[in-house]
Amino acid sequence: MRVGVLTGGGDCPGLNAVIRAVVRKGVQEYGHEFVGFRDGWRGPLEGRSVRLDIPAVRGILPRGGTILGSSRTNPLKEEDGVRRIKDTLARQEIGALVTIGGEDTLGVAARLSGEYGVPCVGVPKTIDNDLSATDYTFGFDTAVGIATEAIDRLHTTAESHMRVLVVEVMGRHAGWIALHSGLAGGANVILIPEQRFDIDRVCGWVTSRFRASYAPIVVVAEGAMPKDGDLVLKDGSLDSFGHVRLSGVGEWLAKEIERRTGKEARTTVLGHVQRGGTPSAFDRWLATRFGLHAVDAVHEGDFGTMVALRGTDIVRVPIAEATARLKTVDPGLYAEVGVFFG
Ligand code: F6P
Repeated sequence: MRVGVLTGGGDCPGLNAVIRAVVRKGVQEYGHEFVGFRDGWRGPLEGRSVRLDIPAVRGILPRGGTILGSSRTNPLKEEDGVRRIKDTLARQEIGALVTIGGEDTLGVAARLSGEYGVPCVGVPKTIDNDLSATDYTFGFDTAVGIATEAIDRLHTTAESHMRVLVVEVMGRHAGWIALHSGLAGGANVILIPEQRFDIDRVCGWVTSRFRASYAPIVVVAEGAMPKDGDLVLKDGSLDSFGHVRLSGVGEWLAKEIERRTGKEARTTVLGHVQRGGTPSAFDRWLATRFGLHAVDAVHEGDFGTMVALRGTDIVRVPIAEATARLKTVDPGLYAEVGVFFG
């Protein structure tokens, strides 16, 4: 069988590890042929593909990003999108599509396979770890490691100057990176999108830390919002998802903390550094296992399914189960780790 592979949405470390595992097992064990579609769903829409054979995936395991390129193109929003995809697959004699992506890419795969009979198998990726139906997505562990190292480094400069350091990490709707890196890095305040925060309480906590001769670190997810803060933080423009853009909660927090406490504050926005570079060992392990299981699902014709991590097992679930709702931080967990609440 000829099998197509695509990577969609924001890139993350581990994408190449999945591609490599899919191709190697698919060729060596099942004798399938592989075609890589360029730039997410844009590839099959425009019929742009490259040959994916064993030499093409050699040496890519530790490389960040994706050798196939990525985009946030949604074929269901394009004119004649479904027909164009089906035409490409027919023309290139493709019998299955491995779709590696997050909520948006997999949401398309769920609909294409459920409603239009396009044979898709899904592989979950995102640094945000906010996909339901899987305990972890690859990319998350690497992002948490990068953010934790940054927090470790910021402690020493914060202490030297007795300043507040605000660290803004990624996470528009889910605070997983903030929670895990904040806890691992010993942050004093962790603010997540799931729970609106009270700026007075944040400042009270910061002041009490200074009384204990301690320079506080505040970790804030980019989607965290102060109570009644919509007007302050939404600048009216749209981001690449079509959502109203938030205008820098980290910058806003540092200014408010300075104004209210009289303590000097600085902001570090980690941004895309969290998505770049080589995957951690855990992400290579998870991405490789996902790839090996995804090609099994393709070989068995088990379409409309996604591979997922449950405990230490890789299982298959309906793709739609992963995309029906976001996996956000449970208030019980937020409370349990003893972080500051607004
Ligand atoms: O979904 C992954 C992610 O990195 C989010 O954490 C972040 O909000 C978003 O993508 C950034 O998107 P872009 O790279 O399009 O600016």
